[in-house]
Amino acid sequence: MMNSFFDIKQKMEDFHPIYTTIDIPSWLIKITWNDIRSMDENQFVDFCKKFRVFALDQYKKYRYPIFARPKSLRKIISGFRKYNVLDVSDVPYNMDDKFCLKGTTRNYSSGINNWFPEIYYVDTVKGKTSPMSLVENEKRLINSMKAVLYNDTLKVFAKNPGKPIFEILVKVLSIARGTQKVGHFSPDMVKWLYIHTLKNYKDKELYVYDPCGGWAGSMVPLFAASYHSSLFDKKITYIATDVNSDVHDRYDMIYQFWKTYINPRMNVSIHKFLTPAEEMHNEKFFGTCMEREIWLLHRRRIIIRKGIQKMKINLISNTKVIVYGLMVF
Ligand SMILES: C[S@@+](CC[C@H](N)C(=O)[O-])C[C@H]1O[C@@H](n2cnc3c(N)ncnc32)[C@H](O)[C@@H]1O
Repeated sequence: MMNSFFDIKQKMEDFHPIYTTIDIPSWLIKITWNDIRSMDENQFVDFCKKFRVFALDQYKKYRYPIFARPKSLRKIISGFRKYNVLDVSDVPYNMDDKFCLKGTTRNYSSGINNWFPEIYYVDTVKGKTSPMSLVENEKRLINSMKAVLYNDTLKVFAKNPGKPIFEILVKVLSIARGTQKVGHFSPDMVKWLYIHTLKNYKDKELYVYDPCGGWAGSMVPLFAASYHSSLFDKKITYIATDVNSDVHDRYDMIYQFWKTYINPRMNVSIHKFLTPAEEMHNEKFFGTCMEREIWLLHRRRIIIRKGIQKMKINLISNTKVIVYGLMVF
């Protein structure tokens, strides 16, 4: 089903986010919990069906996931600019003599998601279903809205019965009832990991390999890390592979966006592959890089899967190529 929504080719000239904000019609933006509670069964079911049709239509026409937080272009740019210069030296800390890294709630780079509406259609590995799959299933959606909205099982509406329900509704529907949106590793932590590791290399040229590019959750932190004084004069090549062809154009779009609005002098270039990570060692480009040496970034956090096991791993840290990425397939 996914492909019918996406003819990315026509948008290639435009590297701007796939979605930003949408206009919510008054029947949906103004309705309060009192209005909902005054509905009879049929009226409520009709309201749920109308909500569903609207949500599916917004995705079909504008690739706008109804559960997404609206984010204007200006907000995405200002968020990325803050993230680019963000000092992440507060990420590491010690607890009970243990060296720890904290994931922060600073979400300056959450604009990444605005290039990947599909994130709202991906079920989590823990078996939680995606928010948009809830909308796809009319019966399940009506039952969920009856529970969280009409019966207020999460006790979020009755306390302000005269308040419009839309924003709270999309929030609770996207986390309640067995749904959950997939997410990125803490962008601040990833930025810190890059700076903390790459700054140790004297080489003027560095290669960073990401075995599953996904939704750019490792690419954008590298862009921001490259702005750090210790990496400013390095030439960094980001090598990402991902078998999902839908995401590849987005990497170029985000790259162009970053160069246009965030850091025109960014010293990072990107190389993308569709090759499964476990076969990357056959890639000529990768082979030439591999002839040099490999050093595993933060090896105790990396889950080595079949792909890397096949490669000759030399742990001597005289390197040009750094492997980053938690191989979550
Ligand atoms: C959880 S996502 C990765 C998230 C990514 N690291 C990020 O931070 O945005 C997993 C990705 O692995 C990709 N994938 C699945 N099997 C793969 C394989 N054999 N080789 C490379 N990528 C693969 C999927 O297409 C998906 O985009």
